[in-house]
Amino acid sequence: MSKIARFLSLITILLLFHPLFTEAQPVAIARSGMVGKSIAQFVPEGFDANKTPSLILKSTPVISGRLPSHWKIYPEFSVTEGKASAIIHLKGKVSLYGGGEVTGTLLRNGQTIRLWNTDSGAYGVDGGSRLYQSHPWVMGLREDGTAFGVIFDSFWKAELRTDDDKIEFNTEGALFNVYVIDRNSPQEVLQGLAELIGTIDLPPRWSLGYQQCRFSYGTEQRVREIASTFRAKQLPCDVIWMDIDYMDGYRVFTFNKATFPNPKQLNADLHAKGFRSVFMIDPGVKVDAGYDVYNSGTKQDVWLKDPSGKEYHGKVWPGDCAFPDFTMPRTQQWWADLYKPFLANDIDGVWNDMNEPAVNDNELPEAMRLGTIPYDIPHRGGANLPAGPHLLYHNAYGRLMVEATRKGVLAAKPDKRPFVLTRSNLLGGQRYAATWTGDNYADEKFMKVTLPMSVTLGLSGQPFSGPDIGGFLGNTSPDLWGQWIGFGVFLPFARGHACAGTNDKEPWAFGPELERTSKIALERRYRLLPYLYTLFYNAHKTGLPVMCPAFFDDPGNTALRSEEQIFLLGKNLLVVPAFAKSPNLPTGIWETLNLVDGDQSDRYQAKLLVKGGGIVPAGEIIQNTTEESLRQLTLYICLDAKGKAGGELYWDAGEGWDFKKNGFKLLNFQASRSKNLVSVSVKSALGNYDLSPEIRKVKAIVLHQGKQYEGIGSLKDGVQVNMH
Ligand code: GLC
Repeated sequence: MSKIARFLSLITILLLFHPLFTEAQPVAIARSGMVGKSIAQFVPEGFDANKTPSLILKSTPVISGRLPSHWKIYPEFSVTEGKASAIIHLKGKVSLYGGGEVTGTLLRNGQTIRLWNTDSGAYGVDGGSRLYQSHPWVMGLREDGTAFGVIFDSFWKAELRTDDDKIEFNTEGALFNVYVIDRNSPQEVLQGLAELIGTIDLPPRWSLGYQQCRFSYGTEQRVREIASTFRAKQLPCDVIWMDIDYMDGYRVFTFNKATFPNPKQLNADLHAKGFRSVFMIDPGVKVDAGYDVYNSGTKQDVWLKDPSGKEYHGKVWPGDCAFPDFTMPRTQQWWADLYKPFLANDIDGVWNDMNEPAVNDNELPEAMRLGTIPYDIPHRGGANLPAGPHLLYHNAYGRLMVEATRKGVLAAKPDKRPFVLTRSNLLGGQRYAATWTGDNYADEKFMKVTLPMSVTLGLSGQPFSGPDIGGFLGNTSPDLWGQWIGFGVFLPFARGHACAGTNDKEPWAFGPELERTSKIALERRYRLLPYLYTLFYNAHKTGLPVMCPAFFDDPGNTALRSEEQIFLLGKNLLVVPAFAKSPNLPTGIWETLNLVDGDQSDRYQAKLLVKGGGIVPAGEIIQNTTEESLRQLTLYICLDAKGKAGGELYWDAGEGWDFKKNGFKLLNFQASRSKNLVSVSVKSALGNYDLSPEIRKVKAIVLHQGKQYEGIGSLKDGVQVNMH
């Protein structure tokens, strides 16, 4: 090295270690203002949308006014060695929630998560601090029950720390915008979140039924056997899932000719029995010159390539795969178009998996393994998205994939509501797909963490989630199955699943006693279908979760802040799983709900409690959602201290888009007691959907101090219940 070169490199090293370069450089706020009711936007100096594009928000917010003088929550931006951060300092005692798909406790004070979507079997990677999805979102609940929420609008690789005194978001990328919502309650904050990131569309009603999966039901014959067994044993179920083994050598959009020779006939047979089918599609496309999907992708130039222009290949189930660059509009279109011929086999829903994306690089020395696409692989972008490295687009990969999938499913079946399930996603991605919490393990710890996980997803914009009931990895014991199904049926997404090589985990696989337990649990879910469907409609309209933390009942009650063994469905029903040990229950009147014969004596069933002042609508026990649920509508009523109660029922055709054109009915019920008579009636009704052919009679059941009082009537005339 010449003297000059040595001198220059010394200077460079000195400069790099100079505090100016390694210490956080504060960055001023260039612009701030209100973009909604009590929603502020903060734009840092030097923010460049070409370096940090947004995929989280449903549209670009517009500043309509200045921050009010009393505005309290400001981010402090900084950059350290080119990497942007923001800190929010907290005043007073604040309970923190959110962060999306996280393991650990519901209360997030003192936690750190890594936002780097990862295939994390048994949540084992980095001690569970990173999972399959990224949700740069935190909600804070103050002592007085008022709340705020913060979106860090970036999907660069990042770390999110939620300490008692501050929220810190450190990225490995460029500067980003911050949105702060400051409102009177956590519910109002979540509605504010929905104003920014949108809500789920209303799912088809069948997707609220119980679903059965396994990795894999290996032949059409086996699928038929599973379906017939559900019906023969009268165990309610709506969906059978096809995991990867239906494919020809794991080539996506193909069928194995020997084991799945006639998928269309299989689906016709499933439909005839009232089942729907969901088939898996992964993002990796097998590199194979004789495979039309690979060839058409090559022709359309959709694959990710390394910086030298060579097609990037990574190993997944089929061996070497090429990966679509979903940032390009033409890839989105190409991918969407693949669904039309595929779904023409009368497939009802799509399951997108491995889309972190997961790559098996186990042949590399441990220190070099990334488990995904190398950080420097370029994504080419297009339309609103700039070109950028995988380090930027990694956390958006699954989100971009399911956007294209949903588009394809919708185009293939324009009259149907798409159902897409995804493993990977990003904050805001609930607009495209429901989710499950990945590869959990069949033990008690994983069963219990199910609740804070799904509740936290609900607090982060994704109301439609649930775990693999029973546990995916490892064998499931009869006792664990009983415990899990006893409350798992009340999760928004209720699917049993099992890994290859584990024991059978269908509801009948654990012997007659557990089969009875399963039957009771499933019948309870189906009886609650009208209530659940109403909650999904509400989630679609307002962004409020289906499954809520206990503290929603009384955000000012600090005793409920860390309660995670129980949960609310909507606001009128509390679910207390059999495993819950001395949970902190919300105060006030709560009455036990008995939905199905035997549900009070079976030790595995969750306890259900109706809130004083609430009405819970329930349907009949049906075997699947194609059967009539509402022939007799039952209204479970728990009066408040003033002898009054209210509740809602949303109903429509269960499928299709008529509901967007007034083809729904939203009934508001009220009940009030005068002496010993409770009168129940429809207070108001919205929408044109005609319920009269469906609801033949209405039964009202008043739950009062452990007793039940019943009356029968009709929608039109209401119901009188005598409490003698
Ligand atoms: C992944 C999924 C799991 C699926 C398996 C095989 O592990 O998370 O649900 O069964 O792949 O496709």
